[in-house]
Amino acid sequence: MSDKRPIGVFDSGIGGLTVVKRLMSNLPNENIIYFGDTARVPYGSKSNETVIEYSIQNTNFLLGKNIKALVVACNTASSVAIKTLKSNYDIPIIGMIEPGAKMAIEKSSNKKIGVIGTRATINNKAYSTEMKRRDEKVEVFEKACPLFVPLAEEGWTDHKATFEIAREYLTELHDYKIDTLVLGCTHYPILANVIKKVMGNNVELIDSGIASAEVVKKELADNGLENNGSLQGYLDCYVSDIPTTFKKVAELFLGNPVNEVKKVDLELLNT
Ligand code: DGL
Repeated sequence: MSDKRPIGVFDSGIGGLTVVKRLMSNLPNENIIYFGDTARVPYGSKSNETVIEYSIQNTNFLLGKNIKALVVACNTASSVAIKTLKSNYDIPIIGMIEPGAKMAIEKSSNKKIGVIGTRATINNKAYSTEMKRRDEKVEVFEKACPLFVPLAEEGWTDHKATFEIAREYLTELHDYKIDTLVLGCTHYPILANVIKKVMGNNVELIDSGIASAEVVKKELADNGLENNGSLQGYLDCYVSDIPTTFKKVAELFLGNPVNEVKKVDLELLNT
């Protein structure tokens, strides 16, 4: 049996394309439908109620495209809405938090782990709760780094301002002697070089997108949902707004050319 239905992926905007990049390399045969809620980004500064409401709307939109599994490629939505989504829908749903937390615990030797993310992800203590559930001895140090999102979208991956801001945010984590740092926002892998330079070679960075792509692969196999065809899968992109710099930024995040992008009316999402 081969299941050609696409995997649905959503994010608050374009950050989730860093996760799509990992899905495409891990699961090259799978078709992917991406929805980026670019009209309503950022989610990181919104209330939990609003993020849950948007996450349900985004999921309904993707279910209308006949998806076989859902990847919540947004740490903020994962930390706030994943329980509601999992209890409301009957398909495999994979978020960023559980896979990223699990991978961080496996990689850390000294059990001192840092997490960086949006204010919502950090305020909800999503990663620390999940890590402590898995290993009560682990010490988790969390830090919101909201300015990283616009810096990543600006493509300032090696800019001196980015270094300055990274030093400002990360010095306290460095001082806690963490050996592992979770990039708990799908925008942050774009800034991995700067973060690595500031934290030093002794700190391993965890990309939750890599961790979640492995979980997606296992879930598809366990549920008999794999596409066993030999063709390269397609990527269809939908967004709720097409910002002027969309193509350039999307290609930076995806690491590949982005073809046609379709705009979805917010009114359609609300129904
Ligand atoms: N992509 C979002 C995340 O991973 C960050 C952007 C936002 O605040 O919406 O948390």
